[in-house]
Amino acid sequence: MEKRAQFGTRAGFILAAVGSAIGLGNIWRFPAVAYENGGGAFFIPYLFALLTAGIPLLVLEFTIGHKYRGSAPLSYFRMNKKTEWLGWWQVLVAFVISTYYAVIIAWAMSYSVFAFNKGWGDDTEGFLFGEYLKLSVDPGQTGGIVGGVFIPLVLVWIITLGILFKGVKKGIEVANKIFIPALVILFLIIVVRALTLPGALDGLDAFFKPDFSKIADPGVWVAAYGQIFFSLSIAFAIMITYSSYLPKKSDITNNAFITGFSNSGFELLAGIGVFAALGFMAQSQGVGVEEVVSGGVGLAFVVFPQIINEFPALNGLFGFLFFASLVLAGLSSLISISETYVAAVQEKFGLSRTKAVAFGGGLSAVISILFATQGGLYFLDVADYFINQFGVAFIGLVEVVVVAWFLRKINTFRDHSNGISDIQLGGWWKVCLGVITPIVLGWMMFGLFKMNLL
Ligand code: PHE
Ligand code: NA
Repeated sequence: MEKRAQFGTRAGFILAAVGSAIGLGNIWRFPAVAYENGGGAFFIPYLFALLTAGIPLLVLEFTIGHKYRGSAPLSYFRMNKKTEWLGWWQVLVAFVISTYYAVIIAWAMSYSVFAFNKGWGDDTEGFLFGEYLKLSVDPGQTGGIVGGVFIPLVLVWIITLGILFKGVKKGIEVANKIFIPALVILFLIIVVRALTLPGALDGLDAFFKPDFSKIADPGVWVAAYGQIFFSLSIAFAIMITYSSYLPKKSDITNNAFITGFSNSGFELLAGIGVFAALGFMAQSQGVGVEEVVSGGVGLAFVVFPQIINEFPALNGLFGFLFFASLVLAGLSSLISISETYVAAVQEKFGLSRTKAVAFGGGLSAVISILFATQGGLYFLDVADYFINQFGVAFIGLVEVVVVAWFLRKINTFRDHSNGISDIQLGGWWKVCLGVITPIVLGWMMFGLFKMNLL
């Protein structure tokens, strides 16, 4: 049997895990989610979710991958023959995410070029939906492939699959060792520049101003848990897959803390940078910050181009850096999502890596072209909404309940991790995973369920 691929260095693994975690979710999702859910007060549910669910689950997934040394379905199978489906379910969700995540990276790639000559013109919204995505036509009509997105999309897949073809050490590890340091440097430049814009402090004020009344709102807790799970790439089979390539001697708990705090640190940085820029935008238009706030597609592809238009001193380079960092953050996440289903089909059907990448990645690439059609944006919204509302927290809940209550494996995993890690897992870890997280997630799911019925 072929020896299992391994990361060559500890830094290589950490950078890959951090690369998976830091993505579009940090740059455009977190700032808007935090602002809408209590601003400074959001940090209370957010930190609670990070410390009682995010990091404990990361430890759990690292342990599962390290112990069973398989892709998610194989690892769950080795844990118990009856739980392989849980791995496939997670793999399926990762696959769906990869199909639209790739499209957004492709947009960012185009926009990094437009940044140099302000190719988006004065009406940035009209440009995105009209000229670039050509969505002015009837949404039901999914006519031709939108010319502008097609070429960058092909490029995104060539890069991603090219890296996966090269394998864990020469592909994934090398790519992340380049992408992540580059990303951090680019992003620091952007944040510093944004902080020196007039009006930046008003933006930060709006971002951090706490609305403590929000803490009693269950919706705010849903938002915090959703953000932590999506942002840390937990419950998508990814961290299990990556940790299955860890060398035998690896410090699990330390790696989990480093990954968790790096991701949240980057998120905070992104919030500061984005709101500084929004503060500038509000001031130059003579309106309040609340009038210009937005997240997601609108923030990155409508508001940011507008900000760049509005400040002549922000030359093409600032815009380029912003969109290039979206590309880097996105690619390192897309690589991890794609590795998840590549590894799963490779092991299930005994394929070579090359074949698994060609089939799995190829299929996702073809489906992603759907999102690059005229009706694509609507699919994208539906997929994103579905994944975030029902996917993430629900799968996380099933995962902890299966591991902690049905299989009662917590002690086994604690001993496994304690045998190789510096930070020892104690009763707190068991309580977080077995009691606090299932209760909070269950209460949240119940609330969502009721909301959707009413
Ligand atoms: N964690 C990534 C982000 O914050 C997104 C992601 C989700 C990556 C799920 C892989 C799996 O954008
Ligand atoms: Na993230």
